[in-house]
Amino acid sequence: MNQPVMQGLQLNTPSYVKNAKLIAWVADMVALCKPDNVYWCDGSEAEYQRLCQQLVDAGTFKKLNEAKRPNSFLAQSDPSDVARVEDRTYICSAKKEDAGPTNNWMAPAEMRQTLQPLFDGCMKGRTMYVVPFSMGPLGSPIAHIGIELSDSPYVAVNMKIMTRMGQAVFGVLGVDGDFVPCVHTVGAPLAEGQKDVKWPCNKTKYIVHYPETREIWSYGSGYGGNALLGKKCFALRIASNMGRDEGWLAEHMLILGVTNPQGKKYHVAAAFPSACGKTNFSMLVPPAGFDGWKVTTIGDDIAWIKPSADGKLYAINPEAGYFGVAPGTNFHTNPNCMASLDKNVIFTNVALTDDGDVWWEGMEKDTGGQPAHLIDWQGKDWTPQIAKETGAKAAHPNARFTVAATNNPALDSAWDDPKGVAIDAFIFGGRRSTTVPLVTEARNWVEGVYMAATMGSETTAAATGQAGVVRRDPFAMLPFMGYNMSDYFQHWLNVGKKLEATGAKIPKIYTTNWFRKGEDGKFVWPGYGENMRVLKWMIDRIEGTGKGSEHITGISPAYEDLNWTGLNFSAEQFKTVTSIDKAAWLKELELHAELFKQLEHHLPKELGETKAAIERRLAA
Ligand code: OXD
Ligand code: MN
Repeated sequence: MNQPVMQGLQLNTPSYVKNAKLIAWVADMVALCKPDNVYWCDGSEAEYQRLCQQLVDAGTFKKLNEAKRPNSFLAQSDPSDVARVEDRTYICSAKKEDAGPTNNWMAPAEMRQTLQPLFDGCMKGRTMYVVPFSMGPLGSPIAHIGIELSDSPYVAVNMKIMTRMGQAVFGVLGVDGDFVPCVHTVGAPLAEGQKDVKWPCNKTKYIVHYPETREIWSYGSGYGGNALLGKKCFALRIASNMGRDEGWLAEHMLILGVTNPQGKKYHVAAAFPSACGKTNFSMLVPPAGFDGWKVTTIGDDIAWIKPSADGKLYAINPEAGYFGVAPGTNFHTNPNCMASLDKNVIFTNVALTDDGDVWWEGMEKDTGGQPAHLIDWQGKDWTPQIAKETGAKAAHPNARFTVAATNNPALDSAWDDPKGVAIDAFIFGGRRSTTVPLVTEARNWVEGVYMAATMGSETTAAATGQAGVVRRDPFAMLPFMGYNMSDYFQHWLNVGKKLEATGAKIPKIYTTNWFRKGEDGKFVWPGYGENMRVLKWMIDRIEGTGKGSEHITGISPAYEDLNWTGLNFSAEQFKTVTSIDKAAWLKELELHAELFKQLEHHLPKELGETKAAIERRLAA
């Protein structure tokens, strides 16, 4: 093959890359970004080790104690680059109304003009990594391919864990296969002889999606969803557009398998806003009283769900790893996750122990106390005394681990099955200290869509500085929706109608709320493994054996409808987490009305009708 040459720079295209569109695009991006070098990732273990060592040499990674945490590394980011930047995230559809009122928007031509000077020469002094990846099992009819160009080796090694990354992707892509082009730069070109910093980034940040042309451009951040473009940018924002056009669903959902003692298996997809315990739920360990039950993980964050000719919805996890929040994770909240983290992990912004291991807030529950001394996520000395005096956190509240799904002892045997798993139920769960009961079953698909569309969640102080404010987060997709939210509601209604028309048994829809508080301000529901009791009730309902009674928003169990073996939880406590306060619901419906006003462009009429039905029941 001819090697295109840009300004004297070899593209270094491997001979097995045959896709003309890809080669031309890389050449264009090289001409724009002007890296010193181009490197095509092959996804091999040797390459991963080489890049990790390069990151150690550059000071970005610290190798952890091999005896305690084999083959694992710690990165500490720039203190200004620690989370997704929602206010810098744009959906640049041709028409503003197609991005909808919940997204930042700029006209595509204007955004291209804005980005052009920023990307021009942005990779000078750096290597451009060409990262080929498949979201979903390679070659699965539900999977799609992306190519990320990035000047961050940290991104390349994280993408190796988070996706099916490497040479085999080019085989699937072939000569004329399609891919989502994703360009990422930390926005920190190096002048001749300039020494690099540990975590290059730029104060200016843009996370940009062009839905019509299915492109992603990310500038200025090296962190998480801003930089690992397969995750939120592709698998949710761009894929939601693909799903709308092609009749499938790209959702912010975990997928779990639950097997009963008789060996019958069910699959549940569950949407929770960020920081509501999604990873914990996806790896749930059934508690005492549930002998013979098994929960297995298919995915912890994202689901791609396609209707099939048999009238069922088949779901895959498009990712291959977990990029989870470390603080709060311990052997009590998530033993399977802790076991997943014992080797081959990249940690970002957790604390370093004196013996070269990692630590974060929440681990004291396992070790019976805080360590006497740590290096905190910003590289400073940390002691319990300093924490007491200054409130300094050892780990950043959004500190993360990146780990392969195959590390998870509860991994489902079908997690990598190209055809996906058939979904029996959807769960939508918010964080609400009042109003919303522990669990509610929708009477029908439309009522379920209503409940998901109006879902709210209280913000945590860590994210906004202000705890307890209810933010509407429809379908837990607010930060991840790639088009107009009301069109998305309509898409869900359309999918439901098509499923109903097949005559097949369609998935049930539930809402949950693990976060109701008592008068003392403390959570009443024990959560974690005990959520199995709620899951079991859902399965009983699917089987037609579970009892429940109707109320204003759907069907909920009575105290005696749940299995309480092994847990001391009184009928009085149950009432605290399930009671329906009419006054609170009147206020809640005012907030639904506010949301519907904001989303009035293309808001499906069925949602207004469902709201009116709830109001009638409330008034009765
Ligand atoms: C995540 C998130 O990182 O939802 O998964 O913020
Ligand atoms: Mn998420």
